Amino acid sequence: MKRIAFAVLLLLCGIAALLLVGKPFDLRTSSTALASLEPAFQSERDRGIATFGFGDFGALSTDTLKTSAVPWKLAVSALALQQTHGDLNAVGEVDISALFRTFGFHSPGKIANWPSGLSEPDLSKPVGLNTGLASHDFLPTAVTIANTGCAACHASVTYTADGTPDTERIWLGMPNSSINLEAYASALFSAFKTYGDDSGLLLETVQQLFPETTWQERQTLRIAILPLLQKEIVERQKTFGRLLPFSAGLPGATNGLDALKNQLDLIPDGATVEKSAFNSIPDLGERHWRRSFLNSAVYAPPGSDLQSETRPEDLDNKHLQEMASVIAYFTVPSMGVSGEVAEAHIEDAEAVLQWLTTYRPQPFPGQIDRTQLQLGQSVYAAKCSRCHGVYNSSLETPELISFPNWLGDVGTDRRLMELTDESVAEAVNAGLFGRYISAKSTGAYAAPPLTGIWASAPYLHNGSVPTLWHLMRPDQRPHKFVVGGHSLDMKKVGIRGQKDGNGGWMPGNEHIPWSLAAEIDVSTYGLGAQGHESEFKNLTEDQKDALLEYLKLL
Ligand code: HEC
Ligand code: HEC
Repeated sequence: MKRIAFAVLLLLCGIAALLLVGKPFDLRTSSTALASLEPAFQSERDRGIATFGFGDFGALSTDTLKTSAVPWKLAVSALALQQTHGDLNAVGEVDISALFRTFGFHSPGKIANWPSGLSEPDLSKPVGLNTGLASHDFLPTAVTIANTGCAACHASVTYTADGTPDTERIWLGMPNSSINLEAYASALFSAFKTYGDDSGLLLETVQQLFPETTWQERQTLRIAILPLLQKEIVERQKTFGRLLPFSAGLPGATNGLDALKNQLDLIPDGATVEKSAFNSIPDLGERHWRRSFLNSAVYAPPGSDLQSETRPEDLDNKHLQEMASVIAYFTVPSMGVSGEVAEAHIEDAEAVLQWLTTYRPQPFPGQIDRTQLQLGQSVYAAKCSRCHGVYNSSLETPELISFPNWLGDVGTDRRLMELTDESVAEAVNAGLFGRYISAKSTGAYAAPPLTGIWASAPYLHNGSVPTLWHLMRPDQRPHKFVVGGHSLDMKKVGIRGQKDGNGGWMPGNEHIPWSLAAEIDVSTYGLGAQGHESEFKNLTEDQKDALLEYLKLL
């Protein structure tokens, strides 16, 4: 008893001391899952895929609790209570994997493209939510922190021959077209609003769901984290009425721009962003051929000639290093870290890039009409390659042999490029990463490599077109369709659906989405499905069909 009293005293003194220093809780940790893999690395690529799948990039800290990290055990407990309507006796039965799957986080049995020589990763928590126990060197404080990693957005379910998603086997590097960070953020906010004030109930739930929780962590949650959390929730409810001052996106599309503006203090205090444009998550195949990054090509290494062709000999270490420095900056909006932390993790991004140079998406699992491939290949070479890149002559797995870095306007929705204005570019350049990035508001969109395009629906930068078949037939593009937890249509290549008689492309009644679905209405701000039309105009139906078969190979 005496020992406990002493420890409590020590803890209270410690917290008081930290508060006095003005840095209440400056704790940081690293991903437990990554640490357990580290001893088995045989190459830089092993490190790369492991870092991509499970690396924290410095984002597990008490600092990021203010941006995108969460105190893991409290978050899970609040969400579980929400599900049982506060019934403590039922929380033990809540299926945590299934709960996170509703937001599009994977809890697979296997990573299908994991290297065979590397030990199997810990898949006991949702992939893309990295966790670690942050503790103090001499004070008895500890808290398990979770934050998003690359794999939250850049890992997909695999697909079977008929386009059915296989949630048990996922593929790192393919786009998670179901990740729904807005649904996740609103569920957290609502659960904390309802149960955050009931410290007793929440901590009991933590004890039930995580019986291994140490005494130190329980006390830290009770004395330090919960009061801070309660204060934050009240404040955010008062100022924005939501967790974040902007929408975090739609299934498969995220709001990197507002997240970045928030980090750069470009959103006025207390203001809520009413109009946002989202970015559909791409496949990462052969992206290292680009000379600039992002849909609107805002980021390029200083001095790089944005629009000059990339040839194989340009893909040297210098190029990869420059690209890695740009990619490290992605953690500022996506994980809520500071520029300093991002800079300290450029090496991690270099390892990721080493792996990405060897990455291939899942081979198209459905049927391919091989008799059409040659025609498709020649149509691609004649009509598409000048913008999307020249692929070699393979009719198995074509690979890029040159990439033009084409940047321009093909008439697609302009909101995103307009919102990515000079104020954003200037703020990036003025910050620490001005050394690595020369940001520019281009007022245009880049033509991306089409590697992995078969599994990247919905299409265009804003995810406004459900299939490649519809993309090629602009007058048939639907006004509405449903994304999130969807199956694929292996013939039209994209999201499975059927015409509903009102210009919509809707899932059949038998369809049960594996995650929360959302209806996309292309008349919504930023979601316009127009543009990229003349590129298909002079193609015959036969040419379009053949081209579609060929695109399945990329
Ligand atoms: C919150 C979701 C999210 C997370 C987390 C995330 N990304 Fe992305 N990523 C995106 C989206 C959306 C795009 C497309 C953005 C665009 O093109 O404007 C993208 C684009 C990319 C690209 C291609 C860029 C291009 O222009 O072709 C690379 C490479 C990439 N991400 C790597 C990473 C790495 C490495 C991590 C982890 C450090 C990461 N991403 C974390 C959502 C995410
Ligand atoms: C004049 C340059 C140009 C030509 C030619 C061109 N495209 Fe594109 N393409 C673009 C641009 C720019 C984008 C990005 C537009 C956006 O997302 O708003 C794009 C986007 C796409 C996308 C969506 C990519 C994604 O990740 O969602 C596909 C698919 C595509 N093009 C296929 C083709 C095919 C097939 C051809 C040949 C018939 C072709 N394009 C010809 C410039 C071009």
